[in-house]
This record gives sequence, C-alpha cells and structure tokens, in this order.
Amino acid sequence: MISFESNTVGACLSPRQVMIGDGAAAQIHEMLGNWQVSDGRVLIVADKEVVRLGLIDKVREPLKANYDVACFDEIVGEPTLATAETLANFARQQPYSAVVGLGGGSAIDMSKLAAALAANTGDVMDYIGITRFKETPLPLLAVPTTAGTGAEATAVSMLSIEGKKAIVLSPQLVPLAAVLDPLLTLSLPPKVTAATGLDALSHALEAFMSIKANPYTDTQAIATITVVARWLKTAVEDGANLEARRAMIYAAYTGGLCLNAGVVLGHSVAYTISNRAHMPHGVSCAMALPYTIAFNLPAVSGRLSIAAAHVLEGSNVTGEDLALWVADLIATLGMPRSLQDIGVKETDLDAMAEECLNKYPRPTNPTPITRDRLQVFYEKMYKGDVQGCIEAFR
Ligand SMILES: [Fe+2]
Repeated sequence: MISFESNTVGACLSPRQVMIGDGAAAQIHEMLGNWQVSDGRVLIVADKEVVRLGLIDKVREPLKANYDVACFDEIVGEPTLATAETLANFARQQPYSAVVGLGGGSAIDMSKLAAALAANTGDVMDYIGITRFKETPLPLLAVPTTAGTGAEATAVSMLSIEGKKAIVLSPQLVPLAAVLDPLLTLSLPPKVTAATGLDALSHALEAFMSIKANPYTDTQAIATITVVARWLKTAVEDGANLEARRAMIYAAYTGGLCLNAGVVLGHSVAYTISNRAHMPHGVSCAMALPYTIAFNLPAVSGRLSIAAAHVLEGSNVTGEDLALWVADLIATLGMPRSLQDIGVKETDLDAMAEECLNKYPRPTNPTPITRDRLQVFYEKMYKGDVQGCIEAFR
C-alpha cells in the first residue's frame, strides 16, 4: 500500500520518454527522429565491455541509417577525472546533434557529461557538485546494458577523483529518453547480474526509508522490491531467461526513479567499503543494506513492514524479517557477508566510521547518524552479525 501520510514536498525527475521491450535498441534512430533530431552526427559513449560483446553494433548500425556516427568507447568502471576530460574534448571536436550512452552505469554517467559539456565551456571540475549548465545539454538517449544502476533515470554523474567518489548533479543531466532493451542484458555474467540487481534493490529500500520519500518514489520502490524479490535469483541462475531479464531491466529503471528520494546510510557505508576493498558498487551496497535496515528499524518500522510484506509470505512480517531476508539473498547469490570476508581489518573500523560520518553525510537518513551508532554498525558488519545489529538498535 502506498502511504499518503507524509506532507513532504517532492520534486521528481524522470526521462521524458521510455522505450521498453525486446529489440528496442533497433528502433533508436526512429526515437531520435521523434525528438526532431533528424540528421547530423551522433556521438555514442560506450564502455569497453559493450565493444567486446559486440553490443555496440546493435545501436550503431540502426543509427547509421540516418546519421554520421562517432564512438567514444574508452569508458571503464569508476571513470576518472582524466577520462571525463578526454571525453569532453572529444565531444567538443565536432558538432553533434545528439549523444547516446550505451553500457553500464559508468558509460551512461559519462554520456551525461558528454551531452552537457559538448554544449558548454569550462573544465569538468567547474561542474563538480550541484550545478547548472548555462546551455542546454544535447539530446541524450541512455541505453543500459546492465540492470541495476538506474543511471538512465537519474540526474547524477559519478566519477572518481584521486580515488574518491565525486558527483556532478543537475536536473539537466537526466537523459531525454531511456531505451530499455532486455536483449542487451542477455550476456551479462551471473556475478554482474547479481551485483547490479542488488544495487537496484538498495536504491529501492534506501529510498523507501528516506525522509524524502513521497508517493511517487514509494510507488517505484515497491515495484522495484517486488520485481527484484521475484526475478533476481532467476536472472542470475539462468541468464538466458528472457522474462527474468525483462523484469530486471525494468527494476533497474524503477530503482533509478527511487533515487528522487535520495539514498540513505547504506550508500555512504558502501563508499567507505569500496574505498578500501575494490568491489562492484552493488556488492558494497548490498553488504551494507541489512545493517542499514536494522539501524533505521525503530524510526521506520511501519514502512519496513510494508516492504517486507512485498517480498515475504505471511501476514505479520516485519522489518526484522526484511533485514534477514536481504542477508539471506546476498548469501544465496554468493556475495561476501561480512567486512572480515573481504579483508577489512578490525583496526580499520574507526577510520571507516569517521569517514562515513564526515565525508558522506546523509541528511535523508531517518535516524540520526552518530559516531557511537556507526561504531556499532561497523562492528556488527565486521562480524556479519545482522541479528546482533537488529538487537543493538532495537
Ligand atoms: Fe547505487
């Protein structure tokens, strides 16, 4: 049930058009035409994996029918400031009519910067943080080939500056259109399917706990949670299952829409983990998620019971059950369960708690984040003790 108890005002962004379905990418040139981009040169920003798998042709070939096409396909995970600057220079060398972002979250994030910086002067550093571009970015179509980050739906571009996460955030970065073609995700390996799917789940559950949650984001969150609970394991175990792939590419998108409410403590903790142990973003988020639920349970127990009812059988399921269900799902998918498992040292916990508090504050979190409480959080997570974390914060 969607709650209308809150009087919070929310301003939610989303792409203006979503094209969804098997083979949607083959119609990308028609979609651009709908937006009055009828000729000229199109820039595809893609990651190396997309090139390796040959997926780039699924987009490049149909575009060639109407446009000159150029490709920047140098994006790898966690793109750096240097990559963003090289891309900005590339995007400014020719006049482009539109940009297409193709790949995982990193490629789509970089395509947002390309679309914005092709139309604007200045360095990438000029736009770090919450920003406004003087000139309207080029029309941008986002075509995800993983199912989880939701980057095709959001106003954020993330990059890595001197090893730390930095963001460019602007409503102008939201893609004009998202193209959700499940056929592009059929070759995703099980581990990537699991990690990205858990990122979508984290977006939904964290946004559902956020003090900025509103009926729009709640609707998306419940859809995401329900779909992930039903289909993620199938997509991981049987990558050729097209129904599961359809479900997960949709859940990734709705998970991205949830980000209109912002994420909470879990994503902050995830950054402190990935700053020490290199791992996919979705894995670090998933590791933090059961503890984040435990941390926030007293503040949002009613909401967490609602979320639990969408993933678990039974009439009286609670947020505690939900935390344990998430922990169980992570274990089933073969993800690490504790900070010990990934080689974090017990002596690192103090520094992680400090970093979480000071570098990644979360005013959206429904429970105040104090140093003492974070210490407990990290100690329980170090041991993989979700039940102990629930009891500590009860
Ligand atoms: Fe995320």
